[in-house]
Amino acid sequence: MKSSGNRLTREQARELLVNLDTAMAGSRGKASRDAIAKFLNTMVPTYSWVGVYVVEGKDLVLDAWSGPAATEHTRIPVGNGICGFAAKAGKTEIVSDVGKDPRYLQCFLSTRSEIVVPISGQGGVVGEIDIDGDQLDAFSSLDREFLEAVARKASNVWT
Ligand code: SME
Repeated sequence: MKSSGNRLTREQARELLVNLDTAMAGSRGKASRDAIAKFLNTMVPTYSWVGVYVVEGKDLVLDAWSGPAATEHTRIPVGNGICGFAAKAGKTEIVSDVGKDPRYLQCFLSTRSEIVVPISGQGGVVGEIDIDGDQLDAFSSLDREFLEAVARKASNVWT
């Protein structure tokens, strides 16, 4: 159920990280990113749509996703949108109200907030995790900490 007031707790985040290892099941590359997207979208009620983008040249290309609908933003130039901004800056972006952020590229009418977490590899950002929430202010610094740990796991099995 996707209701408000159910942001992630520290205890849940700790358990999720343990269970994610099981869900990834030693996979690598795209299979590991598919597992991460599915796990996050299925296990965390506030994560309404989850995508993993991969840096290809000057673009972010959607590699894995899990959610109720596909997005038309399957290729985003680095620098564009919240996704492109986070990739360029190499820093997590949390937008508590997408309606107030001029950078925002809309995918779904239901989205109210968004978090984008870069995935770092050798030589810089290799991809990112993009999560849309259907509530305003769905993401806290705890989601940032948790998802940055998930991004490190993704990086460890990137290829
Ligand atoms: N909202 C993103 C685009 C990707 S969709 O959320 C799937 C952005 O502003 O970059």
